[in-house]
Amino acid sequence: MFTSPYICPVCDLPLQSHRSTLRCAAEHSFDRHKKGYINLLLAQNKKSTAPGDDVMMVQSRRRFLEAGHYQTLAERISAQLAAQLPADARVWDAGCGEGYYTQKVAQANPGFDCYGLDISKPAIVAASKYKNIQWSVASSTHAPYADASFDAIVSVFSRVDSEAFHRVLKSGGAVCMVTPDFDHLMALRQLIYQQVRPYDVSKHQTYLDDRFELVHDERLTFALDLPNNQAIFDLLGMTPHAHRLSHEAQDRLKQTPALQDRACFKLYWLVKKPAAEAPL
Ligand SMILES: C[S@@+](CC[C@H](N)C(=O)[O-])C[C@H]1O[C@@H](n2cnc3c(N)ncnc32)[C@H](O)[C@@H]1O
Ligand SMILES: [Zn+2]
Repeated sequence: MFTSPYICPVCDLPLQSHRSTLRCAAEHSFDRHKKGYINLLLAQNKKSTAPGDDVMMVQSRRRFLEAGHYQTLAERISAQLAAQLPADARVWDAGCGEGYYTQKVAQANPGFDCYGLDISKPAIVAASKYKNIQWSVASSTHAPYADASFDAIVSVFSRVDSEAFHRVLKSGGAVCMVTPDFDHLMALRQLIYQQVRPYDVSKHQTYLDDRFELVHDERLTFALDLPNNQAIFDLLGMTPHAHRLSHEAQDRLKQTPALQDRACFKLYWLVKKPAAEAPL
């Protein structure tokens, strides 16, 4: 049986489970929703009333991912974790969205103790259909987990946070970070923009500060076959391009019945360095 890594978002004391409630010794308590997730996002840690991805974005992402378009990526992440971590590792998916990668990792590694966290309530409501994973609504910056409680953190197209990641990782713990590579979704971007510039990927490795060591990086690329207009709009709905569409681009996309594109990702494996010894 695993001990819980949850800490109280108000006072940082450990949270203990009492039936459907999590409670700290200072009597702050948080109800577990009947779907199984727990809301640990404090009002002062929200920048808006409904932070993170909205229901429409969550639904697009769910349809697109469930159709299996990014299955190759999910399998690669799962295999990398399986190869590098102990069979009973505790893993946090930070900014897990509707939980696709979290559940793929959990399925492929049944001994893992998996936690999915997102600031978006609709995302976590959708994620909670996957069982045997501990879901919570919270901000990664104020991750409600004890110090040194995780073997690894997965971050797929989500913001990384050096301070929080460093705090909750065990010494030697790893971050598996996935980002778009410079030529990700070129065909889709050519439909949207007159001039398509490659993404600047030179800063990826500095997203986490020098308390982390990059020990491996790789490129993963595969063909994407979007068989209908719905799939194109679902993909679009998952990207920041959706907010930048001109009317012309929107019309062009509406008239595109199917699209052949390429998914191009970078996967980075960074390890938390051991603490430096204090000088005598
Ligand atoms: C691009 S999506 C990626 C979701 C998921 N990893 C995937 O690839 O399907 C980024 C996610 O980060 C979440 N997010 C944004 N700010 C966050 C924060 N401060 N803490 C936790 N999650 C956050 C959003 O709600 C959204 O679900
Ligand atoms: Zn408390």
